[in-house]
Amino acid sequence: MQSFLLKQYVKKVKVSRMNTNENSMEKLISLAKRRGFIFQGSEIYGGLTGTWDYGPLGVALKNNIKASWWNTFVDSREDVYGLDAAILMNHKVWEASGHVGGFTDPLVEDIKTGKRYRADHLLEDAGIDVSGMSIEQLGEMIKEKGIKSPDGNELGDTRTFNMMFKTTVGPVADDDSVSYLRPETAQGIFVNFKNVVDTMRPRLPFGIGQIGKAFRNEIAPRDFVFRSREFEQMEIEYFVRKENWEESFTMWKETMIGWMKKIGLDMNKVHELDVPEADRAHYSKKTIDFEFDFSFGKKELYGLAYRTDYDLSKHMEHSGQSMEYINPEDNKEKFIPHVIEPSLGVDRTVLAVLSSAYAEEGEGDDTRVFLKLAPEIAPIKVAVFPLMKNKPELVAKAREVYEMIRKEIPQVMFDDNGNVGKRYRRQDEIGTPKCITIDFDTLEDATVTVRDRDTGEQERVATSDILEKLK
Ligand code: GAP
Repeated sequence: MQSFLLKQYVKKVKVSRMNTNENSMEKLISLAKRRGFIFQGSEIYGGLTGTWDYGPLGVALKNNIKASWWNTFVDSREDVYGLDAAILMNHKVWEASGHVGGFTDPLVEDIKTGKRYRADHLLEDAGIDVSGMSIEQLGEMIKEKGIKSPDGNELGDTRTFNMMFKTTVGPVADDDSVSYLRPETAQGIFVNFKNVVDTMRPRLPFGIGQIGKAFRNEIAPRDFVFRSREFEQMEIEYFVRKENWEESFTMWKETMIGWMKKIGLDMNKVHELDVPEADRAHYSKKTIDFEFDFSFGKKELYGLAYRTDYDLSKHMEHSGQSMEYINPEDNKEKFIPHVIEPSLGVDRTVLAVLSSAYAEEGEGDDTRVFLKLAPEIAPIKVAVFPLMKNKPELVAKAREVYEMIRKEIPQVMFDDNGNVGKRYRRQDEIGTPKCITIDFDTLEDATVTVRDRDTGEQERVATSDILEKLK
């Protein structure tokens, strides 16, 4: 049963986006829920807006995406080190980084209902281009165009709203115990810059990579997991000499593109946007956004920023600790490195991957829905079926084959529910690349049927060759 929030969400999508992009977001949300990928957070209590829970297949997909990212961006490189910093940090980190003062979104309130909205979203929904607009300009534009709230009421003045979740650490709640749930994983890397330099003795250029949760009290979470209040980021802070920033920027841009292809994103839907100065974060001298054609519009998928020496300089100033790198060649030259930051959201990756993979074939009741997921990230790599559930000799043989595969490929599923056709449909919907059926011939000649998800083609393969075939 869908929760109230999910129903409302699907209904809203139905009404407002019926004519956009074959309405595929509604289908994706439905599939994600039905097949155990993504559920509304706190569903049995009616949900908690902006939070999502990943079910058995969702967590497998997410883990595969994170493992693939870690492999490409950290493990396969000599110049990148891993890190797992605490989510809660000293509040001084966020004062130094500029988040306490400036990590805000433009908020506007319906004067009748008190409901709050993002001023830029209301203008965008009215077809107005808001790029480069300051908060004052957004406020003026709302008045000038007579924009009303979605309930048709007057809106108040536009003001800033800090998106950090504030909390207190320990039993005493005073100014010193204030902390924030981190809004980006990046600062955990900057505050550990010296620790990594002192322990690993890296030569420039080098990077520190981290995957972890980030939290933003978004005014208007929307578009499924695209804009949530709790999400995950995969970030690299890559430290370079100032004069070399451009070549590292290009190198990371290419690495990001290569990885997007590897995980099977539809590259026809990926676009680069050179973010104009007025829209860049306070720390950035150049930012490229990778945008993706989601069914709800072309939106930011990832960011690649040149953060200069902004963060390390600010932490040096506020902490009184040196953030300088000493050239190991001469032990004399000291400087604060500059930073290139590829920043990728896990949840937006999941959404882009599902949007790229979703496919339909046939019509009406005969429609076959399948996810053309890259095998590397598919939650289940292979499913094994006995042709009939009530034939113990087939079930025993299927179990034997299943166990043999499981030793080498743990993401394998055994399924004996319903008929084979229905099992194929179920596996297609969750993106399982191959299905193996054990039938009476298997008992005679030790061969099985291997069926391909995308083409539906079947071939007989010797049991002894299955692993090689799958790999
Ligand atoms: N450290 C840089 C940084 O945090 P950002 O553009 O604010 O930059 C980076 O965020 C990425 O994090 C985005 O490109 C997106 O993939 C993801 N992201 C940001 N806010 C999000 C949200 N509310 N829900 C889901 N993902 C989000």
